[in-house]
Amino acid sequence: MPTLTSGTPLEVPRGLAGVVVTDTALGDVRGREGFYHYRQYSAIDLAQTRSFEDVWYLMFRGELPGPAARADFAARTAALRRLPPEVRDALPAIARAGAVSGPLAGLRTALSLLGFRPVYDIDGDRRRGDALAACAAVPTVLTALYRLGRGLEPVEPRDDLPYAANYLYMLTGSEADPARVRAVEQYLISTVDHGFNASTFTGRVVASTGADIAACLVASVGALSGPLHGGAPSRALDTLDAIGTPDRIDGWIRGRVLAGERIMGFGHPVYRTEDPRSRMLRGIAQSFGGPLVDFAVEVERRVEAILAELKPGRELHTNVEFYAGVVMELCGLPREMFTPTFCAARVVGWSANILEQADDSKIIRPAARYVGPPTPQPVPAP
Ligand SMILES: CC(C)(COP(=O)(O)OP(=O)(O)OC[C@H]1O[C@@H](n2cnc3c(N)ncnc32)[C@H](O)[C@@H]1OP(=O)(O)O)[C@@H](O)C(=O)NCCC(=O)NCCS
Repeated sequence: MPTLTSGTPLEVPRGLAGVVVTDTALGDVRGREGFYHYRQYSAIDLAQTRSFEDVWYLMFRGELPGPAARADFAARTAALRRLPPEVRDALPAIARAGAVSGPLAGLRTALSLLGFRPVYDIDGDRRRGDALAACAAVPTVLTALYRLGRGLEPVEPRDDLPYAANYLYMLTGSEADPARVRAVEQYLISTVDHGFNASTFTGRVVASTGADIAACLVASVGALSGPLHGGAPSRALDTLDAIGTPDRIDGWIRGRVLAGERIMGFGHPVYRTEDPRSRMLRGIAQSFGGPLVDFAVEVERRVEAILAELKPGRELHTNVEFYAGVVMELCGLPREMFTPTFCAARVVGWSANILEQADDSKIIRPAARYVGPPTPQPVPAP
């Protein structure tokens, strides 16, 4: 039995599942109800009625903006989209060196160059300013790295476009149609935050050390990149491709599950009902319609039934990644940019969490149970 330094025995579940590690006013996920919220509002209601900037403001300021604050915030964040020249100039080299690892890995390098001071050394206003600058820079960096990786010139951000429209513009060099912009915006809003997920917790651990905002975000980006977290949407779509046709669904899925593999886009550490993001994104996908959407709905139906049969009692349903992949494909986003697009939204949630954590001076420092050979052993002679 492990003990705290005070001698108190302590056991926590594997993966810290369900362990409360701090208080937060930013939001929560209620997995049994299939509900999550940002501040006091349903995240899905926000995605259905508000802009990305409104939700960003809500996460940073604790309230939704009125008309004057909205205009002011939009202008302020749009102006921050332009990268400092020394960072912009470094991007071609980052893209070249990161040709295999891709834009999300390159983002980690670029963020580190933004040059913020440790949160420990600055006041709350300065921290918020740094966090705004970091969030605003992320879409510019990701889209520039993507384009540079294809031998294309980066597209400069436009101040007159809202966040989602500007993101798509910087990616493709032309304005997307309003239905696609809104679909992407709703996806972005729905993924801004999601309780104490791995990347959010990671960012908060680093913030608790007093490190700068970029260091915290780099750590979060690394956690997000794993396939069990944010790395799944393109894999979910790859799964649809690999299955190919409806008559192959059952055999393909059974073969994978019986071989002990996981089906990407299904299952969630917290939800034991349908993921509300999945429900919203399925609706968006169905509003576009087409063979890919019909096939995805059929795969969802069959996979849920097969998982219920082969993994009884686990309540495995589609998670956000399954229909996120479908919606992004319908909106013309390249697969390589699926997880980076997730990141372009989640950076706002990470930042709000990092700011909240930075107000708490207690460093996060859990313990591990030592299970190696008995100690101390004599050190062998060299
Ligand atoms: C998201 C995920 C990591 C959650 O994992 P978790 O909470 O640790 O779930 P568990 O590992 O406790 O899984 C419970 C059981 O369901 C199975 N399971 C979970 N997700 C599964 C999936 N997608 N396909 C097949 N089986 C799955 C597990 O193998 C386990 O089976 P067991 O009890 O026989 O060992 C997991 O569902 C997964 O790997 N999904 C695929 C990747 C994905 O879509 N990631 C995006 C997350 S938003």
